Amino acid sequence: MDLKFISTFLCFVLLHSSKTFGDHFTNQSDLETYIVHLEFPDQLFSNSKDLLLWHQSFLPTNSNLSSHILYSYRHVFNGFAAMLSSDEVTEMEKKPGFVSARPQRIFQMHTTHAPSFLGLHQNVGLWNASNSGKGVVIGILDCGIDPHHPSFNDNGMPNPPLKWKGKCEFNVTTNCNKKLIGARNFVQPDLSPTDDYGHGTHTSSTAAGNFVDGANFYGNANGTAVGIAPRAHVAIYKVCDAFYCLEYKILAGLDAAIEDGVDVISISIGFGHLRSPLYDDNIAIGTYSAMEKGIFVSCSAGNGGPRSGTVENGAPWILTVGASTTDRKISAVAVLGNGAEYEGESAFQPTNFSQKLLPLVNGTNCELFNTSDVKGKIVLCDSSSDLSRKDIARIVKKAGGAGMILMNEKYAGSTTFSEYDAVPTTQISYNDGQEITNYMKSTSTPVATITFKGTKIGDKHAPTVAYFSSRGPCMQSQGILKPDIIGPGVNILAAWPISIGGETTSLTFNILSGTSMSCPLLAGVAALLKSAHPDWSPAAIKSAIMTTADIINLGNDPIQDETLEPADLLTIGSGHVNPSRANDPGLIYDVQPEDYIPYLCGLNYTDDQVSAIVRKKVHCTSSIPQSELNYPSFSIPKESNAQTYTRTVTNIGEAISAYTVKVFGLKGVEVTVQPKILKFTALNQKASYNVTVKSLDLTGHSQGYIVWSSDRYSVRSPIDVFPHISVI
Ligand SMILES: *[C@@H]1O[C@H](CO)[C@@H](O)[C@H](O)[C@H]1NC(C)=O
Ligand SMILES: *[C@@H]1O[C@H](CO)[C@@H](O)[C@H](O)[C@H]1NC(C)=O
Ligand SMILES: *[C@@H]1O[C@H](CO)[C@@H](O)[C@H](O)[C@H]1NC(C)=O
Ligand SMILES: *[C@@H]1O[C@H](CO)[C@@H](O)[C@H](O)[C@H]1NC(C)=O
Ligand SMILES: *[C@@H]1O[C@H](CO)[C@@H](O)[C@H](O)[C@H]1NC(C)=O
Ligand SMILES: *[C@@H]1O[C@H](CO)[C@@H](O)[C@H](O)[C@H]1NC(C)=O
Ligand SMILES: *[C@@H]1O[C@H](CO)[C@@H](O)[C@H](O)[C@H]1NC(C)=O
Ligand SMILES: *[C@@H]1O[C@H](CO)[C@@H](O)[C@H](O)[C@H]1NC(C)=O
Ligand SMILES: *[C@@H]1O[C@H](CO)[C@@H](O)[C@H](O)[C@H]1NC(C)=O
Ligand SMILES: *[C@@H]1O[C@H](CO)[C@@H](O)[C@H](O)[C@H]1NC(C)=O
Repeated sequence: MDLKFISTFLCFVLLHSSKTFGDHFTNQSDLETYIVHLEFPDQLFSNSKDLLLWHQSFLPTNSNLSSHILYSYRHVFNGFAAMLSSDEVTEMEKKPGFVSARPQRIFQMHTTHAPSFLGLHQNVGLWNASNSGKGVVIGILDCGIDPHHPSFNDNGMPNPPLKWKGKCEFNVTTNCNKKLIGARNFVQPDLSPTDDYGHGTHTSSTAAGNFVDGANFYGNANGTAVGIAPRAHVAIYKVCDAFYCLEYKILAGLDAAIEDGVDVISISIGFGHLRSPLYDDNIAIGTYSAMEKGIFVSCSAGNGGPRSGTVENGAPWILTVGASTTDRKISAVAVLGNGAEYEGESAFQPTNFSQKLLPLVNGTNCELFNTSDVKGKIVLCDSSSDLSRKDIARIVKKAGGAGMILMNEKYAGSTTFSEYDAVPTTQISYNDGQEITNYMKSTSTPVATITFKGTKIGDKHAPTVAYFSSRGPCMQSQGILKPDIIGPGVNILAAWPISIGGETTSLTFNILSGTSMSCPLLAGVAALLKSAHPDWSPAAIKSAIMTTADIINLGNDPIQDETLEPADLLTIGSGHVNPSRANDPGLIYDVQPEDYIPYLCGLNYTDDQVSAIVRKKVHCTSSIPQSELNYPSFSIPKESNAQTYTRTVTNIGEAISAYTVKVFGLKGVEVTVQPKILKFTALNQKASYNVTVKSLDLTGHSQGYIVWSSDRYSVRSPIDVFPHISVI
């Protein structure tokens, strides 16, 4: 995996410093932050003080208690985080009520054209129907926020809802307003929750930034910047610093967000490659509690693509979001001596770059070369080194190169980024790089130049899935198709705490790429739907988003992945979000919180493991196969004997309506749907159907769609029938 061009956090290896705590421990080098889960108490603690006392009773008696409990959790689960030695944990395990303890993990954090690309326009359509997300609170778990950024102005904002209990922990000189209604710092609780990096300011404004005119990046992509839900409120929970996110702080932020009364939560954070079962995944456990309270949760799928099995945050109560391009490009065209042109991208758009053809030289990975070889020339660089694009450009500049053509490696395919480089540059796709290589080999005097064409709208390939967008299957639960959805996450312009646009602008915006960007965007879409339909459950919102997604691109071809071949279902899930259609889906696949219990039992978890997730005593008396959960998509293991799965839909379209079914694709699989017509006579009426699947060929994936259509609606579920692969 190569993340070097992705503007989210890179991998840091961390040694947790434990020096500041607990001189009284016998073996200091053994101290670590443990996340401790306890049984759900018989008596409910009415105030957090009593709960804290109970939590403290688990700690060793010979030490200074108040210095050990780092956070006492009430909502995400019953338990606490504390600095402990392994001996102390062993002692604690003997106490009644103890469930589990393990050292915390370290996470990484994984415009504006996006709203209009998604069909959102002022005073019409979904923005009109939802009052642009009015009254909804979006909680963002990230690395802080710049409260002074114009994207968080509160022009036109209503007061926070009455139920809002959040806090604003800025210092005396700064305060919240009607846009930014909550801000808390779990990283350094005594300091303001300001943004150490920019990521949190970017994600917050992507979800719900207010209108700001004249936003641009070095003069490019100039326009009105606005979030997806411009009338929704923002509450920031600072759980990461500029480098990493500690697990116990993420959980503290989640606990507080639930307490404060947010409606939607956006988490652009993941582990990287570590994946554990749902009962050992605290984001899964914490978000289960949120979902139970009616809070919608959007998470980034991760930046581990294009390798398969890299998707993160895959619990079925989470919307797991992949990333794709928009139709906007900041164009930089490589022009060759043979007349061929290859369009790439660059945010550095010099207006005086000579259009005279210059010698084109092979710089290989451009880590090192002789100045005499490249001076005044265009240098062709590959991306095989560990250097970032910015660093390569600096080397080319230092050696006197006139310009750079940067070719993608094969894995990155067609995904290119709009960055600002030290020399005139264009980043081109892998395929185009191969053609330029062939040209160079075909002539003894290769020449080239770069033509900068500024910001262009209308790329017919859009949306194309980005190479880095994590792919299914979801190793935690292969019976659930993940990712759920894709949305814009490449070259997203949004708010940034510091000015990087040079003299071209006084406003501060930045272009970033990653599933970190598409996740808050989908949180914004959920906020619009929640505002338009306050009675929809988190599962209903998710179903509406998934069954109405687009599966064709602007050129009317099937959505492609970075190789420009049609993307498979483990790459796009249900497809590309279409917010306006999601507002009126016709039918929904609803799931009640308790429906997840037989599903979890069906994962063969023990009673205790299931209890740890759902925070109450569970005896697995009934269980269902994973694929049987009433999910809006299907992921079914291949079996030669027929298997039947039942789904139940709820009519929220037209009271009197009839839907007929069609099955598309699914080579090598016999599929029958019973009944073939679903008739409704009232709103909120439910109807069930069975899907029977028999695999004729047990190897490979068979993919297709089940579509229920009425006169007005089309409700589509993707279906992936997969060869048996072992589960964790
Ligand atoms: C302290 O803990 C470390 C790490 O677990 C271990 O290697 C070391 O032997 C321990 N020292 C003592 C004195 O127990
Ligand atoms: C225990 O910790 C608290 C808070 O960190 C501190 O104020 C207090 O002095 C400590 N007490 C002892 C006996 O070390
Ligand atoms: C805006 O929404 C209102 C209320 O839902 C509706 O009556 C009106 O027709 C909508 N206007 C447009 C232009 O869609
Ligand atoms: C208060 O916070 C702002 C950022 O919100 C910061 O710029 C300022 O320096 C802080 N002032 C003090 C006194 O800490
Ligand atoms: C951005 O567009 C606005 C109006 O459309 C214009 O006034 C402004 O000069 C433009 N800024 C840049 C940097 O192009
Ligand atoms: C283009 O303009 C910039 C800024 O004015 C200048 O630094 C640079 O040398 C010029 N480049 C060429 C090739 O004229
Ligand atoms: C630089 O050029 C000299 C002379 O042509 C050659 O000996 C040397 O290997 C070159 N160095 C690199 C890094 O290519
Ligand atoms: C550039 O040089 C490298 C290393 O010698 C070689 O593998 C590659 O094919 C060359 N590329 C071109 C375009 O000549
Ligand atoms: C659970 O166990 C049953 C019986 O051993 C097995 O058929 C099923 O595949 C298992 N399910 C999972 C998700 O491992
Ligand atoms: C669906 O399948 C279940 C169990 O396999 C069966 O009880 C039910 O009658 C079936 N319903 C239809 C409509 O075929």
